[in-house]
Amino acid sequence: MRYNETKLAAYFADAPEGLGLEYLDMARIPRHISCIMDGNGRWATSRGMQRAEGHKAGIVALREIITACVRLGVDVLSAYAFSTENWNRPQREVDLLMHLFAKTFIDELPLLKRENVRVVFLGDIGALPERTRKVFEYGMAECEAHTGMVLALAVNYGGRAEIARAARRIAELVRAGELEPDRVDEDLVAANLYTAGLPDPELVIRTSGELRVSNYLLWQIAYAEFYITDTYWPDFDRWGLLDAILSFQGRERRFGGLTSK
Ligand code: FPP
Repeated sequence: MRYNETKLAAYFADAPEGLGLEYLDMARIPRHISCIMDGNGRWATSRGMQRAEGHKAGIVALREIITACVRLGVDVLSAYAFSTENWNRPQREVDLLMHLFAKTFIDELPLLKRENVRVVFLGDIGALPERTRKVFEYGMAECEAHTGMVLALAVNYGGRAEIARAARRIAELVRAGELEPDRVDEDLVAANLYTAGLPDPELVIRTSGELRVSNYLLWQIAYAEFYITDTYWPDFDRWGLLDAILSFQGRERRFGGLTSK
């Protein structure tokens, strides 16, 4: 996607040693960057704070990464905010997260509008508490006409559940006589995922050092490059993002072949 050089330079001014824009190949910015935002709780407890403070700090970090990705001309930024497994957390924390999601979305709407960001949700948001669901639907509608970066928020998302849902949808078409089974191919599966129409992530960033995929975008990450950092999500910033992109650009992507594409 196009980017504004002046705004980009201003946002990444005063780079730490070795991390300036001059090291970056702007022609090879990943089209889709995906973040597994891990470590909010540990960030807080390591400072003697409540986990809730970690989630609030995590939102500030997400805001910075959204802005940085817009400045860099990234097409799609996705972020894992709440998994289908996260319902197993203590009810108080689930309630707090649902409240924070709604509040954040309202608070950040001006940013999303100013930056022309379109928001989509990955996951079953129909099962969220009513207020959060309504805020999401309202915010999504408000940003619907935006033509800039797509922010894809994974909320109540599980990769296996997503693939099962796609299989169900396709099976319904077959049952209705609208589709022959031998026409089921990878494109059709992809078109029935929450990410339909979006490019697959090229770069997946996971913070807080865990070496897991955690049921995230299982289909879509087939050829993604991974960048894992020990930094807790609330401390992940524009420089961490640049480091991840530089690491991505330093790799040879072969897609199963022998030479890079
Ligand atoms: C992981 O930390 C983070 C989360 C479960 C939630 C992150 C959500 C945001 C930063 C905001 C998203 C905003 C919107 C509008 C959807 P953790 O609690 O798993 O940390 P831990 O592994 O240290 O316990």
